[in-house]
Amino acid sequence: MAHEIAVIPGDGIGAEVTPAAVEVLGALDVDFEFVEADAGDAVRDETGEPLPEETRETAAEADATLFGAAGETAADVILPLREVVGSFANVRPARSYPGLDAVQPDTDLVFVRENTEGVYSGIESEIHDGVRTLTRVVTGDASREIAEFGFRYARQHGYDDVTIAHKANVMRETDGLFVETATEVGDDLGRAYDTALMDALAMHLVMHPEDYGVVICPNLAGDMLSDLAAGLVGGLGLLPSANVGPENALFEPVHGSAPDIAGQGIANPSAMILSAALMLEHLGYDEDGQRVRGAVEDVLDEGPRTPDLGGDASTDEVTAAVVDRL
Ligand code: NAI
Ligand code: MG
Repeated sequence: MAHEIAVIPGDGIGAEVTPAAVEVLGALDVDFEFVEADAGDAVRDETGEPLPEETRETAAEADATLFGAAGETAADVILPLREVVGSFANVRPARSYPGLDAVQPDTDLVFVRENTEGVYSGIESEIHDGVRTLTRVVTGDASREIAEFGFRYARQHGYDDVTIAHKANVMRETDGLFVETATEVGDDLGRAYDTALMDALAMHLVMHPEDYGVVICPNLAGDMLSDLAAGLVGGLGLLPSANVGPENALFEPVHGSAPDIAGQGIANPSAMILSAALMLEHLGYDEDGQRVRGAVEDVLDEGPRTPDLGGDASTDEVTAAVVDRL
């Protein structure tokens, strides 16, 4: 039976790189039925609603969702979408590739980011003029779930180093619970791990990324550290991600709508195509996922390359080269 894939291109370069990923999937011998849906600034401008009910339903009913990027409505789109698919884990691999001029060419990191709470709880208020607050939510259940996922991911993908990032020296209650719960999970599983204060970890990741493998993070820390790692390996055009829940999942590049280059046809499609590779593996097409990743790696190594990687090729030329390799 065909897998139903919701395709939500969104705004800016999201609308440019999403068709690239769909084109690559179309070159494979897999049985996918694509259902396109709207979200983001453009549909908000038209209808007043950045995430139409119809789009929620399409994502909820599909076997998986491919999402490009939204612009200024990102928080109104991607946070609820991650909820719609029930994803508690955001997986963000950051690897350096042969042939690319990376700041740190020996990087192979995977951020496993708690995807439902922390400072992204959305519980903010204006107490009075000039004073606003935010409630940071951390639960033992979500912390346990993300830690179990992170340790399992490390084992399945052959990573020996697991680091639990936190800032419990300051956020004693919330990150205290996070790190307490995550270390308990590691102990119960009999697995080795380190804990690291997230600010110092940021420095160590820049200087010695080769010392790290899977990094289990609270929500905001995972968001920031994964962009930092993007800088180490060649930029946001390279980082895919998976939002995984028990029954459903959404795949998206780590980058946003990139208004500075949108409309020029020069966005790097690699992050989006690699997100599609993660989706293939999630749906059980392991071999196809690896083929797609291999094709992207070959093209990154040999070109053509988009301007963010020092080349002068277009999104379409890079996509065609990937399809060619397949
Ligand atoms: P961004 O990721 O869109 O861009 C940051 C920088 O990286 C820009 O210089 C951009 O040109 C470059 N870049 C990103 N992806 C690239 C690609 N595929 N190829 C070549 N260069 C690439 O982040 P920024 O500028 O902070 O945000 C722009 C908009 O995107 C904002 O409106 C923000 O709200 C939204 N956003 C949406 C996200 C989502 O939908 N999940 C995530 C992050 C930001
Ligand atoms: Mg981000």
